[in-house]
Amino acid sequence: MPFVTVQPSGNRIEAASGASLLSVLLGAGEPIAHKCDGKAECDSCHVFVHDGRKTLSKMTAAENARLDTIVGVGSKSRLACQALLGDADVTVELLGFGSGL
Ligand code: FES
Repeated sequence: MPFVTVQPSGNRIEAASGASLLSVLLGAGEPIAHKCDGKAECDSCHVFVHDGRKTLSKMTAAENARLDTIVGVGSKSRLACQALLGDADVTVELLGFGSGL
């Protein structure tokens, strides 16, 4: 079972392989927005994945297209609703902490 470490809260959440980052974060009460309810149609769940990026599911065309529209996107960017956990731990930074909810 992988662990998700969350910045800036420092929470460490045990999660199931195959779960989306968004579902794990919401389940732990982390303040992450999800305006389109996980359809890759907004950018409110944009996060940076600092460790474990390669263990996540591959980026879909829809996620890639959506990320292309975001200011401030980088090589660590993922949409939390589209990134599914693998077997290894990841570290995720929530962006716009406390806003957009
Ligand atoms: S919740 Fe809208 S893109 Fe993830």
